[in-house]
Amino acid sequence: MTTNASPTRKVLRYSVKPRLVHALLASSFLTLLLTGLTLLWSPLSPLAAGGLMRHLHYVGAVLFMAVPIVYLMVDRPAAKELLWDSFHYDRDDWTWLKHVYAYFLGHCEGMPPQGRLNAGQKLHHAGVVIFSASIVISGLVMWFGKGMLNANGLAVAAIIHNLSMLILTVLLIGHLYFTFVYDALAGMVQGYIPEAEARLEHAKWVESLPQKEPWLVEEN
Ligand code: HEM
Repeated sequence: MTTNASPTRKVLRYSVKPRLVHALLASSFLTLLLTGLTLLWSPLSPLAAGGLMRHLHYVGAVLFMAVPIVYLMVDRPAAKELLWDSFHYDRDDWTWLKHVYAYFLGHCEGMPPQGRLNAGQKLHHAGVVIFSASIVISGLVMWFGKGMLNANGLAVAAIIHNLSMLILTVLLIGHLYFTFVYDALAGMVQGYIPEAEARLEHAKWVESLPQKEPWLVEEN
């Protein structure tokens, strides 16, 4: 790949399988969030009457728990790369984090070069892994532990469950903010992003890509 970005070249950010897995993750999470709110928040509790929301919450939970299994089944290298990247930070990442306020305001020019994920995305994704594990474990305890745990045990599980969901919701708000500030949706919906954009935000990653299709396509 040449070092100068062409306005007509596009880079493959996400292939079809990771995009479908992300759609499953996003839709199951939003199902859990919305149905969970009706179960927890009294102004919305009339919506939970009849038990439909509780059943939908369980369906959302099963789909949410299936996400890592499906990802490993359909695209093991991408799933492993996501996990590895989320928990490994180099010197450029730490310098990048020191200048995160500029990135927050929509300026990534002059920031240290980043790999496939920038340091902020790494932190976000690591948070998603940790707090997803936490909602899954505490949720399973509440779902199946009713006969085994006393009221205090179930109350602790509920607190962990609700706090983890709150943290994931805050992370989601940040995730959506950066998605729209950096116009990143195309990479997750269509797969390709302009080469110039990819170089600006993920220079080390673009340099490491093969200089051929499907990684790089020329548009007329
Ligand atoms: C609901 C609306 C959502 C939108 C619009 C959205 C948007 C995006 C976009 C544009 C990317 C690609 C960013 C890039 O690297 O260029 C992405 C990646 C990602 N998002 Fe979301 N997202 C949403 C929901 C969620 C939720 C609910 C979670 C977690 C609970 C999540 C977790 C992730 C993760 C882990 C990745 C990295 C995927 C991978 O490398 O395979 N997203 N999202």
